[in-house]
Amino acid sequence: MCSQLFALLLLLLTACVAGRSTPQELDEDCELNAVDTMHDFCCDLHDESPQFSDCQMEWHEKIQYQTDEEEQMYMFCTAECSFNSTDFLGKDRRSLNLNEVKEHLDSDLVSDADIELLYDTYVKCDKHALSMLPHKGVKQLARRLTRHGCHPYPGLVLECVANEMILHCPTKRFRQTAQCEETRTHLKQCMQYLKYKS
Ligand SMILES: *[C@@H]1O[C@H](CO)[C@@H](O)[C@H](O)[C@H]1NC(C)=O
Repeated sequence: MCSQLFALLLLLLTACVAGRSTPQELDEDCELNAVDTMHDFCCDLHDESPQFSDCQMEWHEKIQYQTDEEEQMYMFCTAECSFNSTDFLGKDRRSLNLNEVKEHLDSDLVSDADIELLYDTYVKCDKHALSMLPHKGVKQLARRLTRHGCHPYPGLVLECVANEMILHCPTKRFRQTAQCEETRTHLKQCMQYLKYKS
């Protein structure tokens, strides 16, 4: 009797702990759906630009989101808006103006190593974003975004840059807040999942 009760308690406890360690379930869109990372600036190297803040305000008025799906649209439009004002976005709306990126990084950052790390991340994320465009989840998002006149490419780049900077931030420059730690843990799980799936 007593040992049965003990077993039951143990089972409940395990379920609790397991449930907590995977706050969001993982699927092939775990990266796409980690919208939070775009405005979680967890690494000092990749800080919020004035253009990004302005665009957040502008789009907050245009999309007063209530659901996760609406918040995702808000974030993607904010990303494109901000890439428009920094001239990062190419005319075709699916390429980066890398000279502009380089100039911005040169004026924002002091150390050559930091500039190189972030620049290489943009180069990598441009390719990554293009490879994501044909994905089903991205196509669905793209259709929803057209209603607001936005394209998914800039948000995909920005999300990738944010993710990369959370995962590869130099240790001393990482903001050790609970939110940033949690995001990093989730991203690691997501990347592992995507790696083993492919
Ligand atoms: C960004 O610029 C393009 C080209 O001018 C425009 O079509 C698009 O609507 C702009 N996006 C946002 C979010 O303002």
